[in-house]
Amino acid sequence: MKVQRICCIGAGYVGGPTMAVIADRCPAIQVTVVDLNQARIDAWNDSDLTKLPVYEPGLDAVVARARGRNLQFSTAVEESIASADMVFISVNTPTKTKGLGAGQASDLRWVEACARQVATAATGHTVVVEKSTLPVRTAAAIKTILEAAQEEGSSRSFSVLSNPEFLAEGTAIGDLEAPDRVLIGGEETASIDALAEIYGHWVAPEKILRTNLWSSELSKLTANAFLAQRISSINSIAAFCEASGADVREVARAIGFDSRIGPKFLNAGPGFGGSCFQKDILNLVYLCRHFGLPEVADYWESVVTLNTWQQHRIARLVVQQLFGTVTGKRLAILGFAFKADTNDTREAPAIRIARDLLEEGAQLSIHDPKVVEAQISRDLQLEPASETDTLSGTGSWTPATSIEAAVRGADAVLVLTEWQDYRHLNWSDLAALMRRPAWVFDARAVVEPAAVQAAGLRLWRVGDGES
Ligand code: UDX
Ligand code: ADP
Repeated sequence: MKVQRICCIGAGYVGGPTMAVIADRCPAIQVTVVDLNQARIDAWNDSDLTKLPVYEPGLDAVVARARGRNLQFSTAVEESIASADMVFISVNTPTKTKGLGAGQASDLRWVEACARQVATAATGHTVVVEKSTLPVRTAAAIKTILEAAQEEGSSRSFSVLSNPEFLAEGTAIGDLEAPDRVLIGGEETASIDALAEIYGHWVAPEKILRTNLWSSELSKLTANAFLAQRISSINSIAAFCEASGADVREVARAIGFDSRIGPKFLNAGPGFGGSCFQKDILNLVYLCRHFGLPEVADYWESVVTLNTWQQHRIARLVVQQLFGTVTGKRLAILGFAFKADTNDTREAPAIRIARDLLEEGAQLSIHDPKVVEAQISRDLQLEPASETDTLSGTGSWTPATSIEAAVRGADAVLVLTEWQDYRHLNWSDLAALMRRPAWVFDARAVVEPAAVQAAGLRLWRVGDGES
């Protein structure tokens, strides 16, 4: 079987960049990315490449090469499924907010809707590839829906593969172009070979791993759980360092030299955010409870508990240092995205920290180089204030178009995302704009401590017991 036409359902953070790279590397394959969201598709088709709906370094160049040649973005979902011999499902799978498994299980309504769309619209033999992160055994549900549509004697047939995406936002293009591994789970050799052949255009064969469907699905959850666990582990030690006078960066460096531990993913910070870590762990927790393994569920749940604690802890210590009250005080928040080099704010630590401070009555001035005002409003469930009434006791926020505008009149600056722009700030100029005594709370440890202190500002750095 040779794949000639791919349809990808879902033009989001995963579907868009992944398909752009496949199209770029496989010029002979026609790739169509479809989405129900017309505005999103229009943005993907915009001739101005700065308007792409996903911000990823290097994505614009890849899209520029492939779009209009063998990469299309469209809302014609059914048509595109009908003409495809391989359909990727790359839709959102957020944590359920109500009903059975609320707060933990993944909401599979969009995946199921996709499976039903494929079941109705597909023609000939169609390989369906799960790309979204899904709870173990979702492939079985997709298969059952597809099999029900496979009428007796019809020429239509389906096979289902799991091909989880391991890309991280901000480095998506590099991760896709030079992946550590590609994982393909499935039962049918011909379909697995067909997908492996696509990746084989640019990935070495020994990096293309084949497993059964369930192992593939579980590997994705496990990889994210292990990575998130490292962050909670280092953040727990950061708190201990602050209490005991050690420096978490020195500890991280020392343990990272152990080749069994390794140096990556040991940056203490305001806790992990992003669309995957929390969701995937909670999913794992839900499944473990379901399969009668409460101890295993509790073990993994503690990774999320510690993460949430770290975020509340940071908000709390800001309040404590500012004489126990931030009511009416102006606080500059530098960085709202869940990490640098992305405009994504899903589960961003800044959301929880900002909400806690708003609850305390703070006047926040929020700056982020890529996150738009409307997104911050949605995340905080609060419109920006037109004028600030500092004595009302009610928290409010305003967007800041520059770092200086954010900092002007502030009692404290909180650095919550490690954007490059925040690494080498002119602290003596900024200090002149602030109300004294003024603080810098660096939750990412990116500022230059000597420069901050030389400017007469007080500094708190995550995991730093020294200052
Ligand atoms: C993650 C996985 O890395 C990726 O393989 C999977 O496909 C999706 O989930 P992503 O969420 O995009 O990717 O970003 P990642 O770089 O993993 O960072 C996640 C969070 O952890 C961010 O909030 C980041 O700031 C935080 N982090 C990361 C730390 O606090 N310290 C670190 O050392 C590393
Ligand atoms: P991810 O980070 O997993 O890529 P996103 O939320 O960024 O998630 O993207 C998922 C996309 O899938 C959204 O743009 C949404 O409109 C789209 N989508 C969801 N269900 C369907 C469907 N049945 N058909 C087409 N597109 C869909």
